[in-house]
Amino acid sequence: CATVTYDFDVSWTYANPDGLYNRPVIGINGQWPIPTIRVTKGDQLVVNVKNSLGNETTSLHFHGLYMNGSTHMDGPDQVTQCAIQPGGSFTYNFTVDQPGTYWYHSHVRGQYPDGLRGAFIVDDPDDPHKDLYDEEIVLTFSDWYHDMMPNLLAFFVSVANPSGAEPVPQSALVNETQNLQVKIEPGKTYKFRMVNIGAFAAQYVWFEGHTMRVIEVDGVYTEPAEASMIYMTAAQRWSVLVTAKNSSDANFAFVGAMDQDLFDVVPEGLNSNVTGWLVYDEGKEMPTPQEVEAFEPFDDFGLVPVDGEELYDHVDHTIQLDLKMDNLDDGANYAFFNDITYVHPKVPTLYTVLSTGENATNPAIYGSNTNQFVLEANQVVEIILNNDDPGKHPFHLHGHAFQVVSRSEDEAGFYDAATAGDFPQRPMRRDTVLVHPNGNIVLRFRSDNPGVWLFHCHIEWHVASGLVATIIESPLDIQSQLQGKIPQDHLQACKDGNVPMEGNAAGN
Ligand code: C2O
Repeated sequence: CATVTYDFDVSWTYANPDGLYNRPVIGINGQWPIPTIRVTKGDQLVVNVKNSLGNETTSLHFHGLYMNGSTHMDGPDQVTQCAIQPGGSFTYNFTVDQPGTYWYHSHVRGQYPDGLRGAFIVDDPDDPHKDLYDEEIVLTFSDWYHDMMPNLLAFFVSVANPSGAEPVPQSALVNETQNLQVKIEPGKTYKFRMVNIGAFAAQYVWFEGHTMRVIEVDGVYTEPAEASMIYMTAAQRWSVLVTAKNSSDANFAFVGAMDQDLFDVVPEGLNSNVTGWLVYDEGKEMPTPQEVEAFEPFDDFGLVPVDGEELYDHVDHTIQLDLKMDNLDDGANYAFFNDITYVHPKVPTLYTVLSTGENATNPAIYGSNTNQFVLEANQVVEIILNNDDPGKHPFHLHGHAFQVVSRSEDEAGFYDAATAGDFPQRPMRRDTVLVHPNGNIVLRFRSDNPGVWLFHCHIEWHVASGLVATIIESPLDIQSQLQGKIPQDHLQACKDGNVPMEGNAAGN
């Protein structure tokens, strides 16, 4: 195993990825799109971040990585660290002990859709599917806004937008462009590692004239399953095998089509699709694809993990989260779990864990607006999420992949064990899952990873309007792992931001 180091200078640059509008974007080392991080399972990763934005704070989250023993490297500001102030530096340093397809993005308020989002690939010498493909290609799908997030966010949660209508993106992108041609050799089988790095829109993805075989979701290898079209929510990853034709007679389109059901109003003239091409012969035409209605979306609920992990059939601890959207007295629209809209605390939750001794097991010390849940070690934890809202939401848990043991159709209402049906014996496991409009989901995981982990909707608008809960897992174990071990640059980020640090997170 090696140590892999990246030096990232985060700063503004300009880009015009849809050819319609040139705008500032957040780049790394003067480049945008930002680089793909690539390591091999078992490697230690060091990412030295310098914030050269000048006018915004930042942080990095490595989406889907468990951060075992390293919750202080997880990235969300005011949760596991203070945001990195302009001019500040911060080092992320952790061991990557899981293979698969991930991504990394800023985890300060609403920032990543301005560009700080990229793929994160962990190669696996023991890949169970390695004999099934010849080459691999990474495809990021995303939505794109012409206006910048600080402006859009100020409008979104305001009295001017009492219905909470989410801003609609102007474009869809693949690999942050609308002009992608992928060179294909006849007869070869390709593994496409696909990541939705968007802010909001789920995308329907299909390859014309080719079928897909799904082999990985969110870092979890699955038994191969055939699909003609997949539905990839914001933040999900899907690896699929695509076998090329045996001849180069024609080229084929592939498409990411944003799910327009998510948009309150579809603006006239919106091109909600992005098309790329599988290019067998550059001299031949690049065909126009079919419409999304020509395909049937694949249901991921039936996917079976290769490792055959069995259903956790005994639950020790249940967390119920009832989701709704509503207005507060200020006239703006917010999102709620159990009538609480998340407001982040003044001191990062992790540092409160580290400075409160035995009291760290008492949820009350984490404030009244963090939707906090304290878990004991090594329990089977169940999250029941009831969506009392007519929208679709992709839910993500930091620090774990969960078993998706139940997912209702639209309009099923609150979860009711009596009518829910049987759970799969070997449930799909992933870290980001869709709950249907006015439906419910039930997720299970084992609390074997001490840390402070967010659970939130991965629609960035809904993070801003408060659809976030905080899981404080085994706080006394966090203390024994990290007491006195928070690096100086992490503490400095708080001082730079004048965060009032109670107690002594550094243990000194
Ligand atoms: Cu992609 Cu809170 O994460």
